[in-house]
Amino acid sequence: MTTSVAYRSPLVVPSPQMVPTPEGASGVTLDCRPYAAQIQQAIASRRPVSLADTERFLVEAEMLFHALPEPLRRAVIELKSGLSRYPFLILKGLPTEQSLPPTPLDSRRPRMERFMVGEWLSAAIAKALGEPFGLVQQNEGELIQHNSPVKLHETAQSGESSKTELLFHTDGSFLPLTPDYNVISCLRPDPAREAVTSFTSLEDLLAELSPKHRELLSQPRFLADGVEYDYDEVNERGNRTHHVPLLRGTAEQPYIFYDQDIHRAVDAEAAEALRALDAALEAKAIHVKLEAGDVALFDNRRCMHKRSPFHANYDGKDRWCLLTYVSSSALEATRERRAAGRRRVLDIPANL
Ligand SMILES: [Fe+2]
Repeated sequence: MTTSVAYRSPLVVPSPQMVPTPEGASGVTLDCRPYAAQIQQAIASRRPVSLADTERFLVEAEMLFHALPEPLRRAVIELKSGLSRYPFLILKGLPTEQSLPPTPLDSRRPRMERFMVGEWLSAAIAKALGEPFGLVQQNEGELIQHNSPVKLHETAQSGESSKTELLFHTDGSFLPLTPDYNVISCLRPDPAREAVTSFTSLEDLLAELSPKHRELLSQPRFLADGVEYDYDEVNERGNRTHHVPLLRGTAEQPYIFYDQDIHRAVDAEAAEALRALDAALEAKAIHVKLEAGDVALFDNRRCMHKRSPFHANYDGKDRWCLLTYVSSSALEATRERRAAGRRRVLDIPANL
């Protein structure tokens, strides 16, 4: 089912080297430009909040979400409820900062005495999806992370890279608390408009795979071979030795934990299944170019994403995005034990 307000957007652009999706972009984007004045007014009406008062800010951000136009709220909530055709949504053309500071060179929040428009919108949408959270090992625990190209990490598999493709992944597949939803707000695109973000839904992936490959991907026959440089300490604790499945949940409620940079098959059969998965990721991908004011939100368990290389000049005009991790309810975390066909009813194992 598509969101009732979504439309086929010309802003979803397959790049020449990528395979366009046969079903097109219907249901992926929502044009928010007609509501710009209303949204701007809703943000301006928020009570002033100290930068240090995180909980007050999140309360005000949640109130802001309630003040947003219904089509926008409906699209976000339908995605959260699993009713949207795709587990990712691009809100196009939300209000932007009147005078945006230069893009940070260190992927850190610039010194600003008030919350930025993009931070308000990221927090509002994150609160509608669940509870935003941070990691000490990533941007020093910022709830809303500022991502911009960093020269030192230009070839890393991280949001600070630019020269290399950020490979298909789900965020934090190796963490104790994997984000359930991610919110990416684009404050400034790369000047050459080269950066392409791609999403592939798990539903589309599974439809491409044989039952045998799906079964293999559900078995612990994959090794988390290394982690992002932010988490070296995790590695020292023995993360590499764990054999994990890439598909989890049930046949009715599957979800995926996979990072092309990290996971390796441990035997030939698993390797064959992984090759099929990687091929399906490319074949079913939907590609978008994020502009200033665009917000991408997605279910991190039910889709995978990647980002193409792009040029960075480190001159204050580079690409700049906000990234917010969201944890949904404990109910969502119990998917393995749902009663068959019933999303909200748990089936408690006999040996509990
Ligand atoms: Fe990511």
